[in-house]
Amino acid sequence: MVTSIDWQLQKKVRVLVASDDQSLTERLWGFLEQGSDTRPIGTAQSGRECLEIVKNQAPDVLLVADTLPGENVLEVCREAIHIHPRVAPVILARTSRHRDPEYLHQVLDMGVCDVIQVEPPYADLRYQHVLESVMQAYNLIQERISGIGGGIGRVITLFSMKGGVGKSTIAANLAGLLWHAEQRRRVVLADLNWRFGSLDSYIGHIARQSVLDLIPVLDAISRNDLESIAPPVHGGVRLLPAPLDIERTEFTRDLLERDLLEDDRATLIDDLLVQIREDRQINIQRHQVDYLEMMLKKEKVKQIVTVLARRTLQSLRRNFHYIVADTNSNLDDVTFTALELSDLILLVCTPDVPSIRATRAAVTLLSELGINQEHVAIVLNRTARRSEITTAEVCNLFSDYELLADVPADFATLQPFINTGALLHEAPLNSAPLKAMQKLAQRIVDRVPVARAA
Ligand SMILES: Nc1ncnc2c1ncn2[C@@H]1O[C@H](COP(=O)(O)OP(=O)(O)O)[C@@H](O)[C@H]1O
Ligand SMILES: [Mg+2]
Repeated sequence: MVTSIDWQLQKKVRVLVASDDQSLTERLWGFLEQGSDTRPIGTAQSGRECLEIVKNQAPDVLLVADTLPGENVLEVCREAIHIHPRVAPVILARTSRHRDPEYLHQVLDMGVCDVIQVEPPYADLRYQHVLESVMQAYNLIQERISGIGGGIGRVITLFSMKGGVGKSTIAANLAGLLWHAEQRRRVVLADLNWRFGSLDSYIGHIARQSVLDLIPVLDAISRNDLESIAPPVHGGVRLLPAPLDIERTEFTRDLLERDLLEDDRATLIDDLLVQIREDRQINIQRHQVDYLEMMLKKEKVKQIVTVLARRTLQSLRRNFHYIVADTNSNLDDVTFTALELSDLILLVCTPDVPSIRATRAAVTLLSELGINQEHVAIVLNRTARRSEITTAEVCNLFSDYELLADVPADFATLQPFINTGALLHEAPLNSAPLKAMQKLAQRIVDRVPVARAA
């Protein structure tokens, strides 16, 4: 019997070589045959041929020369990723462009995994170098498919299944403090409460663009795209705004139309289900086409929104050191995506029974989602000395999770900030909430350090 581990061990990375130079192709082919983890599966001599093979054979890695006649190599890569999103393209560059940081940024943002310099007669081209690049590219894409990985940044998500516990307050101040403690750090505050997010007002900023403006560049969200939509506020922290008020109707329309069509929609769904179950030819009545179209359109919007959340977070991770994400308490697709892609989830809890129950529910949910316990910690907010439920009791209840901070209730200190949109790090006073938040920022840096220097 072949177990899945055996199968993984036997499985070789399938590589397509696209180059118009026969001697380069032959040399690479030899390397790939020799490699114990790789297998060459085909060659192409033009962009068109290359895309045809990508479509039919779905290679794991594409080695593509920038001298292919006809199309621009970047276009070929873009198209290849479009046809087969799991392909890992590596550019074989005749010029020394691999040293140009701007070019590198551009191609990496596009989804290209690496650039290898090649120069005829290719005597400098080393087996080791090529194989390493191929395997790294393959692993990068595997990581990306599995959700996490890619980029140096760390995603810290504030989450609770209950509103009003201080997620947004903590998110905004944490982002401010992470930046303030080390100003070379690239920090972004991402408002992932796409339904009703209003983080901009928490930090005294009026957003004119939102994350929805990234939809046209969904396939390759670059640092420039992110920066133009997420302007710096309060020094160097950037804010990636949720959809603007006027854009929100897109999301709420769903709810509004619900009543109107409920019966017709139910009939259509029932009809279709019966036909599918009975293995009959699917037959849609003329008058049902409108409802079907509407349902599919909604499904499409949902799909775009989910893809947008994923790609945005992945691009943020490639371009920032810390991404502090605020979420809403409703479990929508955007929240799920954030939880899945987080390096650290901070469950915000206040010392009262409803909030503790919500934290319990969140802990259960996260484990059902398969999220590793090590990626979860608790932040206790609005604690008070006289509180009936003590910090120690909350710690006991969630003893499997580290308590990362204990932020005292201090509305008097926070209120002026909330009303004017200033953040705690700008306060000259050495207030208790500020100290607690500073400690939290430091513990986060210790616990989830940035992958490597940018
Ligand atoms: N440590 C605290 N002490 C006093 N008030 C707080 C504290 N943290 C948050 N608040 C207040 O609680 C309310 C809800 O906070 P918010 O951050 O909007 O919660 P959430 O995002 O979880 O819904 C706000 O009015 C905020 O000012
Ligand atoms: Mg909030």
